[in-house]
Amino acid sequence: MEKTFQKNILITGGAGFIGSHVVRLFVNKYPHYRIVNFDNLTYAGNLSNLKDIENKENYVFVKGDIVANDAVTNVFSQYNITDVIHLAAESHVDRSIEGPMAFVQTNVVGTVNLLQTAKNHWTDFTNHVFHHVSTDEVYGSLGNDGLFTETTAYDPRSPYSASKAASDHFVSAFFHTYGLPIKLSNCSNNYGSHHFPEKLIPLMIHNIVNKKPLPVYGKGENIRDWLWVEDHARAIDTIFHNGKLGESYNIGGLNEWKNIDLVKYLCRLLDKKLNRSEGESEQLITYVKDRSGHDLRYAIDASKLEKELGWKPSITFEEGLEKTVDWYLNNQDWINEVTSGDYQHYYKKMYNE
Ligand code: NAD
Ligand code: TYD
Repeated sequence: MEKTFQKNILITGGAGFIGSHVVRLFVNKYPHYRIVNFDNLTYAGNLSNLKDIENKENYVFVKGDIVANDAVTNVFSQYNITDVIHLAAESHVDRSIEGPMAFVQTNVVGTVNLLQTAKNHWTDFTNHVFHHVSTDEVYGSLGNDGLFTETTAYDPRSPYSASKAASDHFVSAFFHTYGLPIKLSNCSNNYGSHHFPEKLIPLMIHNIVNKKPLPVYGKGENIRDWLWVEDHARAIDTIFHNGKLGESYNIGGLNEWKNIDLVKYLCRLLDKKLNRSEGESEQLITYVKDRSGHDLRYAIDASKLEKELGWKPSITFEEGLEKTVDWYLNNQDWINEVTSGDYQHYYKKMYNE
């Protein structure tokens, strides 16, 4: 007889960077939940991110597009989905500047399709959760002072953040209009293992290792607030289980870095690890044309999550960066796999190489 599970959780985007960490955490920590990873494997999705758990009894992968109504309805029926943790998205700001429509499709239409399907599938709204995973970029750009809180007005400025803001608004609308049991989280920039090398940290590590130019946009003075991806996954676990319905929670670790300082830090760390002479990798830094509409600064106030739900980051940035760099140095096969195919084409177009 087939085993029954206490919950059947649909995790969308589980083959991506953050999604794979959330899937791994839930599969290992909750053997009594079945985790259904629903992902259409875009350039950013990679099943080798989940090799260590792919044969577990409580894990299933379903290849499918969140925009496709039939595919989403089928997965809900086939696995009697009780809860959703929604991470599937187009996630890169530079790509959103090149082509915003894919962001509207996946991030907005795909999210509404999931909300609608959950609403239709769940006969009553008790004992279900739809947790939508979002970004601090919906709040816009900060000046030199202040932090984003849950009550900061939305002011998205890139096509990516506009699409995420729209999806957040639909999630809230489904709570207020239909009573769908939603939770929402907005996190700062993540870093860690299995991060596709188009975002700042993995791109810089990859290029330092390969002695390629390190493209710093503008003067490198923009500030991002960095959080280790496994701490984000722990926060999602906490909010999914203990957060209040209809509420949003900011996630971040008070860890602001100017881009140029971060790139130099990575250069020094890798000089040591690769036995290069001091200062060698910094010579690769190349200032390039600034990103259009480049948000100056992001910084998150996560005190609501800390005070109400007791979550805190588990490691420092220095510890996390060292683990991350070591992971990239020890996982060359993964890098080769994800940078084959379209990556070279994207890279040449993006950085005029
Ligand atoms: P990612 O780009 O690494 O992964 C996205 C995943 O979604 C991929 O596996 C991809 O195949 C899948 N996907 C894309 N379109 C899909 C579709 N139409 N149907 C099904 N699957 C699809 O992204 P990430 O960095 O892991 O981000 C995950 C989520 O977290 C996103 O919603 C993002 O907005 C949010 N977020 C990211 C960060 C960050 O720093 N990366 C910070 C805060 C919030
Ligand atoms: P990114 O990792 O794309 O995240 P986001 O734009 O969502 O915050 O970029 C982080 C910061 O690094 C951002 O200020 C842009 C900058 N950046 C560069 O300077 N060079 C690069 O090659 C990339 C990808 C980003």
